[in-house]
Amino acid sequence: MVRSLHVFLTILFLAVFLGCGTSRDNEPEDSPIVLGYSQLGDESAWRTQNSRSIISAAQDAGIKIMFEDAMQNPENQIKAIRSFIAYKVDVIAFSPLVETGWDTVLGEARAAGIPVIIVDRMIDTADPGLYRTAITSDFDLEGRRAGEFLVEKFQDTDDPVRIVELVGTAESTPAIGRYEGFREVISADPKFEVIFSEDGDFMLSKGREIMQRVLSLYDPEDIDVLYSHNDDMTFGAIEVMHEAGIVPGRDIVIISVDATQRIINYLKEGAVNCVIECNPNSGPLVMDIAGRIAAGEEVPKHISIQETVFDEYTDFSTIADRGY
Ligand code: AHR
Repeated sequence: MVRSLHVFLTILFLAVFLGCGTSRDNEPEDSPIVLGYSQLGDESAWRTQNSRSIISAAQDAGIKIMFEDAMQNPENQIKAIRSFIAYKVDVIAFSPLVETGWDTVLGEARAAGIPVIIVDRMIDTADPGLYRTAITSDFDLEGRRAGEFLVEKFQDTDDPVRIVELVGTAESTPAIGRYEGFREVISADPKFEVIFSEDGDFMLSKGREIMQRVLSLYDPEDIDVLYSHNDDMTFGAIEVMHEAGIVPGRDIVIISVDATQRIINYLKEGAVNCVIECNPNSGPLVMDIAGRIAAGEEVPKHISIQETVFDEYTDFSTIADRGY
């Protein structure tokens, strides 16, 4: 559904872009806000829901959106941003795949007088004037929450707790925050030991592949915990555990990040022990901020998306259907 919507929006974008020349010079003053949005890819169920939220919130807000999927390639994001600048959109928003490499293109947007909103992940720049606001999750907090669950779960033992970690896309904000925040908490107790940690790019297929390799290197008895930076990688790892006769959630404690409905079902069944929420439904907030910026209002420099934790101690009746 989201795929076909992407195709439709891309065709619409090309039709407007090619049919009416390369910019909006002849548009009437009161025409709707045009937002150029560069999404980083479609690597996970979380991302699919995030794109759905952005596109439908734009439609609800009466904002014309030019939505481009960069297919996990930052070069495609730079090209999309340049095309938005050429078209003279009112606002540019984008979810950066990785933190660095944006200064030049964002400098071009600034020179063209187009405000930029960073969404979901952060950029690393010495010049914060390159963007108007950043609407992001607190990935460091997510990592700390994962660590806090382990501290509570293993509070009654002094035995070593051996952890396998599936890391998200290298050099992306969620991978950095979830890696560092987690270590900030577990490093207080030497019984916690990360015995294996590898980048699985937030993809199910890579979660599967890495877990197969882990089980070729370690006896399952020597693994106490799987900490996975997103649900898709967790699903891949759980498939491998089933095939190897390992009971997830019992033989190996599992912590996952995102909180899709499928992982909540696993939590309820006891196959996963802790789920750190990462909220993909930022569309309405992004459109509200885009509208305010286009109207010339000041907005906060950083806006945090609110999130929670669901674990085996949660009253499951309080968890609303996730809808994705
Ligand atoms: O940036 C958010 C992360 O990106 C989500 O946790 C993950 O599922 C996605 O691919």
